[in-house]
Amino acid sequence: MMENIRNFVIIAHIDHGKSTLADRMLEMAGSVEKRKMRAQYLDSMELEREKGITIKMQPVRIIWRDPSDQQNKEYILNLIDTPGHVDFGYEVSRSLSSVEGAILLVDAAQGIQAQTLANYKLARDEGLKIIPVINKIDLPNAKVEEIEKEISDLCDILPENILKISAKTGEGIDKIFKKIIDEIPAPKLLSNTGEGGASDDFKAIVFDSLYDNHKGAVAFVRVMSGEINSGDRIYLFASKTASEATEIGFFQPEFKKASTLSNGQIGYIATGIKEPEKLRVGDTIFKSNNGKIPEGANPLPGYADPKPMVFASVYPTQENDFELLKKSLDKLKLNDWALFYSPESFASLGRGFSMGFLGMLHLEIIKERLAREYNLETILTTPSVGFKVKLKNDKIKDVFRASDLPKTEEISEILEPWVNLEILSPQDYFGTIMKMADAHRLLFKESEQLGNLIIVRFEAPLMEIIADFYDKLKSATSGFASMNYDFVEFRRGDLIRLNFLIAGEEFPAFSRIIPKIRAEREGRRIVEKLKEVLPRQNFAVAIQAAIEGKIIARETIPAMKKDVTGHLYGGDITRKKKLWKKQKEGKKRMRERGTVSIPSRVYMDILRRD
Ligand code: GTP
Repeated sequence: MMENIRNFVIIAHIDHGKSTLADRMLEMAGSVEKRKMRAQYLDSMELEREKGITIKMQPVRIIWRDPSDQQNKEYILNLIDTPGHVDFGYEVSRSLSSVEGAILLVDAAQGIQAQTLANYKLARDEGLKIIPVINKIDLPNAKVEEIEKEISDLCDILPENILKISAKTGEGIDKIFKKIIDEIPAPKLLSNTGEGGASDDFKAIVFDSLYDNHKGAVAFVRVMSGEINSGDRIYLFASKTASEATEIGFFQPEFKKASTLSNGQIGYIATGIKEPEKLRVGDTIFKSNNGKIPEGANPLPGYADPKPMVFASVYPTQENDFELLKKSLDKLKLNDWALFYSPESFASLGRGFSMGFLGMLHLEIIKERLAREYNLETILTTPSVGFKVKLKNDKIKDVFRASDLPKTEEISEILEPWVNLEILSPQDYFGTIMKMADAHRLLFKESEQLGNLIIVRFEAPLMEIIADFYDKLKSATSGFASMNYDFVEFRRGDLIRLNFLIAGEEFPAFSRIIPKIRAEREGRRIVEKLKEVLPRQNFAVAIQAAIEGKIIARETIPAMKKDVTGHLYGGDITRKKKLWKKQKEGKKRMRERGTVSIPSRVYMDILRRD
């Protein structure tokens, strides 16, 4: 049976035609079922589309009878998807380890993008059989030969091995079927030792998941060995959770119940688990009759807990929306296993959550979802990376907010996350890219010229990349350059904590950890902004930026001139003098107390990402 199965992913950039190709393949396979799920999926993914990322497709199982085969042999083709964005790189690697092949799909007018290239390389390194395809050859502006050369240069693939198709007209799709059958290997048996040979123990890798109100957490799995029947008891290795396969089946692409899922197949297992965080992408599912970890259980390699890389706090703009915010986050978490949040309260912002995200895109998706799906207006503080702070007593502390930084005298060094950054661009922009690199503490590693394109590789502090680097890169290269990055390690940084004082009082919510070289400019910028947004007081207020008590920038908001005698008609000068004296004393008292109350609106203005 296994020799009839072909499991593969499509690696493509947004709009390069992934869904159209899947539809066309279903149609040609004679499946009457159109891909119904797409419309539903599109609703919740509208945002991803707007942000220019490819929408994750529902996995789909295509039954294909080769028309040229005299015996009319039947094949099961399982197509699953890879999320295209770097924030979800970990999910990509799980998808790739669930299949034996990959279709590399490139738009004939657009050419290949950095993230597609990065995912292609991951697939190649996993040992997958790659089927390179140029799509949309019917377009009047198709540059088939040029793109063919580009793919050939970038991916080291012979031009004659690249298929040219139109997912729209159907031209060339038959050749894709043929290549899938002929070139992608059927699933192999996996032993517990990983050395080949047979194993009957059921093992499946979770490559995606979904939460369903009735079915509970549903695992999208690839069976790596053995088989499972509906009703079998199961055990999730990473979360040490015992449960039951309440329903199992295939993707057609909607859920299609089945009684058995056997070796090599791709399908779903409904677990009935109501705490979705217990079902984790990358985990291994075993069978277990006694609800305990099976003896000698050896999980499939590669599981890692999701690592948040970007941190920010979120507060509802209406203070009494806190409960709603909590409920909404709980709901979002059901289908977003990588979302982290814990309650916090800060100064006059009231109650909110400190949150961890996989990256900036993940952060934006969550903010937008809160607004669109839960009608919740929130403010999000300026995102930060996570730091590791080495203390003088040799302990290491994780710090996500400047206000949590230990005292300077306790710190031995601050470490920040670094990434490998790869930029793919037409060669003409090399100079522009290098200029940007200078301004962002990027370390140039190498560049590689491939035809008209150039790949420039850097090492970069993540902090530099998560701000507006990508937007700047796009505008500096007329939209042509694309980039991809992945985490390398934590490195010592010349970083300081920049503090802000208002009327002599420190406001920790405004503090930030930044490179020393940028401290003065950033200090001045925030001080000026504070001056703009702070309401005037009855007395002059000093706004200062400071590093370890040393003032590096200062502005003063002049006192509000309140006419305390205006209501007195005529010239009773003694009464006026009395009032002026009283006003002066009041100002003095306030100055002495040094209290400036900051309306939450001002906090929001300053903390809001700009
Ligand atoms: P996302 O799901 O948004 O990532 O996009 P996708 O890669 O699934 O692309 P999709 O299939 O939605 O196609 C994007 C657009 O390109 C649609 O308007 C399609 O009709 C069009 N398209 C896809 N294939 C072809 C083709 O072969 N020729 C032409 N002319 N248009 C195509």
